[in-house]
Amino acid sequence: VNADAELIFGQVELCVLLGLRGQNPGALLLLEIAFIGKGKEQDRLSQTFEFNLSEITQLAQHEFFMPGLVDTHIHASQYSYAGTALDMPLLQWLNTYTFPVESRFKDLEFANRVYTKVVKRTLRNGTTTACYFATIHTDASLLLGQIANDFGQRALVGKVCMDRNNSVKHYKETNQECQEETCRFISELLNKKYPLVKPVVTPRFAPSCTGALLEQLGAIAKNNNLHIQSHISENVEEVKLVKEMFPESESYTHVYHKYNLLTDKTVMAHGCHLSDEELDLFRQTGASLSHCPNSNISLCSGVLNVRKVLKHKVRLGLGTDVAGGYSASILDAMRRALESSKVLTIQDPEHDTLTFEEVFRLATLGGSQALSLDDQTGNFEVGKDFDALRVNVAAPGGPIDLIQSEEPKILLEKFLNLGDDRNIVQVFVAGRKVVPFTDATPE
Ligand code: GUN
Ligand code: FE
Repeated sequence: VNADAELIFGQVELCVLLGLRGQNPGALLLLEIAFIGKGKEQDRLSQTFEFNLSEITQLAQHEFFMPGLVDTHIHASQYSYAGTALDMPLLQWLNTYTFPVESRFKDLEFANRVYTKVVKRTLRNGTTTACYFATIHTDASLLLGQIANDFGQRALVGKVCMDRNNSVKHYKETNQECQEETCRFISELLNKKYPLVKPVVTPRFAPSCTGALLEQLGAIAKNNNLHIQSHISENVEEVKLVKEMFPESESYTHVYHKYNLLTDKTVMAHGCHLSDEELDLFRQTGASLSHCPNSNISLCSGVLNVRKVLKHKVRLGLGTDVAGGYSASILDAMRRALESSKVLTIQDPEHDTLTFEEVFRLATLGGSQALSLDDQTGNFEVGKDFDALRVNVAAPGGPIDLIQSEEPKILLEKFLNLGDDRNIVQVFVAGRKVVPFTDATPE
């Protein structure tokens, strides 16, 4: 276990105790980390804390607990075509594949089928927190919030806003509808009082929105102190389009800044083509970036230089960006982030390649920081919620063969590079076991 208590291995004599979090809304038990220390102190602890022996979990040698994975950018509404349709650049891809599919979420039965599958899949893949784009449909977006809550996933959910430039006639709202429906979405979702699900203000991206809409959404976010998510500087053609559409703005970043959409609760996806000045503006406003390397490669959008982002001290997490990214797994995002960094090193040997430890951090604490949830999640610290994966590196029938007993760092590296959901034997969100699914788990 390192200084940040990010990993807890079966090989280490360490004991973690969970306790009830203060005031829990509703009946759901939320558990936070109450103590981390030497296992030898367990006897003393059993006198201090009342705990039930049947609830003690003992890890095997090749098992460990790690903080839950954070997906800072995923389109739940694009899950049905994940793994297909990656033969076009961004703007053409949106018009050809994305908008026609998203327009189907008017149908709540279809929405229910897709959203249930994506929440279950991401949970099995170890995503304890997901920051979701839904579609423009308020009721289907509320349903996504309900499904995340029912399965116990921590989630930010955004009803998408767009009032211009759409190839699909009926997949668009007027400016007034956008504003009214966003307010209805926020108030109805907040009224549900789901303990782990929050609304996020979601302009799709500048080319889909009039300046008037961006301004209204900036005001709604500010007045309600809400998270904001969108896309920025993903593809060169898109950057050029924004320049033409918003000629008065100095840069793409300045468009969002002008409408108060860059705050310390903002997460912007991609950012492949941001200038140093734009990254400085991210730093100044506290806005963060979601690095979506699978999507950046799959749509030939660009290669984000993570080292440059970190040098500008901009908060950064990883995103799958399903379905621009074909995988709904943050393990995949970690691998693609490493590969993208190695491509930059191939192009410029002076480039300082990311390490697997750095990418692991981006996938956990980095993601929590990017979503401003690091007061509650991201690593194992006393007082934070217990969002965790129990990993068995040598899971029977799994993809990893251990020839000898390996040290903890090797076990982690093997899991990050070779592991999959067969190795993720349990998933906890706020101390509640959400994987494996039980009979009580909704269909
Ligand atoms: N930019 C605007 N909308 C989208 C989207 O749905 N996916 C991706 N990757 N980029 C976008
Ligand atoms: Fe996206």
